[in-house]
Amino acid sequence: MDNNEYDERVVDYYNNLSDVYDELYGEEQNKKIRIIEEIYNRLFGSKVFEKGLDYGCGTGISSIFLSKISKEVYIYDISEKMIEIAKNKVKNAIPVKINDLGNYLGFFDVVLSVTVLQDSKDPEKDLELIFKLLKEEGLLILSVLKKKGLAFWKPLIKKYFNIIWFYEEDKDFIFFLIKKIKL
Ligand SMILES: C[S@@+](CC[C@H](N)C(=O)[O-])C[C@H]1O[C@@H](n2cnc3c(N)ncnc32)[C@H](O)[C@@H]1O
Repeated sequence: MDNNEYDERVVDYYNNLSDVYDELYGEEQNKKIRIIEEIYNRLFGSKVFEKGLDYGCGTGISSIFLSKISKEVYIYDISEKMIEIAKNKVKNAIPVKINDLGNYLGFFDVVLSVTVLQDSKDPEKDLELIFKLLKEEGLLILSVLKKKGLAFWKPLIKKYFNIIWFYEEDKDFIFFLIKKIKL
């Protein structure tokens, strides 16, 4: 894929953190995911999608939630060490390599990305890529650390998605988004 530039420092950071990530951040991430699950249930009830991608799956904490709302779970992460741990956590998950992302355009019903895009060199490129990976009217559940502020995220997100729900969690902004029909 031409449009996913990432910072090697982020890769190194997460490769080095992988063994202790769950211990350090498991509780914090699970708290966010419980909120995401509550909102999901309110909006979609017991709906289960066919194909879902965890974009920045990390050690798979978020992929466990994805496996509740999608029959097929695909996982993608720039850190090989993180994705190795995720593979053990969600046994049926299908790992996607960065160079293979181009084979999945218009493929996913739902993309989940929890606490990922704030680390990106160019989050707009990731959002554009996710837009392309989703089917028409696909759902993106996006959670980002608050550090860049809402004034940064909202206009960027609105270029590609319609916001159907927004929630301000302690550390993250959580968005439920539907892919725009036309850009
Ligand atoms: C804070 S962790 C979150 C992991 C998981 N989603 C969770 O909720 O626990 C961020 C993860 O995103 C990955 N990541 C960062 N930038 C990325 C990018 N542009 N594309 C894919 N993965 C990325 C990192 O390697 C790391 O595993």
